[in-house]
Amino acid sequence: MDYIIFVIPIVLLVIYFGDFLHKYHNYFYLSAIIIVASSVVFMDVALFQTLTSPGLGISLLIVVMFTGAFKKKSKQRITLTKVRKELAILGYIVLIPHVVSNFSFEFHVARIFGSLAMLIMLPLFISSFPYIKKKIGRERWKKLHKLSYFAYTLMFIHATLIAIIVTKAYVIAIIYIFVFCIYLILKLNNYVFVRK
Ligand code: HEM
Repeated sequence: MDYIIFVIPIVLLVIYFGDFLHKYHNYFYLSAIIIVASSVVFMDVALFQTLTSPGLGISLLIVVMFTGAFKKKSKQRITLTKVRKELAILGYIVLIPHVVSNFSFEFHVARIFGSLAMLIMLPLFISSFPYIKKKIGRERWKKLHKLSYFAYTLMFIHATLIAIIVTKAYVIAIIYIFVFCIYLILKLNNYVFVRK
């Protein structure tokens, strides 16, 4: 739970400083890249070790996925959509130290799901930059980004399996499953509403 608790401050920051993030997104990306690169190089330094925790990354991606689950003209969707791209890009960047620090060729089923999620997200991450998005074209971009549903599912399976198998944090596993079910219900509700 302490991991996805970041969702609350992220949403509050988006409400109050979303425009600022949107306007200066390049500075945010650059800062994130510098901090992440430092953490990968100086992984033994305690300050940077905190970045190997996936908490911030998974929370950012949860906000991104829920944005698409809210109804089209809802206040929540309008507020979050403004910075959805920025949150997704930052989420991917800040997950890199977690991936690097846990990288291993040793087989572990949970690691497979995490790696697949990260791999599927790679083209989505790259194509989130406006220049690439323009090159791909709107329709192809939209089709490509449908892969995000698959990536979110794998991400939740990974986190849930780690909680069950590795950390034996069963309550945390239930929370992950619960959050994912809420997402599915909202998405389904949204879909039915749009189709009506
Ligand atoms: C979308 C990408 C990913 C997300 C959102 C994610 C998220 C998480 C979360 C929430 C945990 C639980 C942390 C804990 O309870 O201590 C975790 C643990 C872990 N992840 Fe990931 N992960 C991702 C990708 C990866 C990848 C690509 C790998 C390996 C190549 C990986 C390897 C691990 C390992 C080994 C642990 C257990 C760490 C421990 O023993 O404390 N993850 N991840």
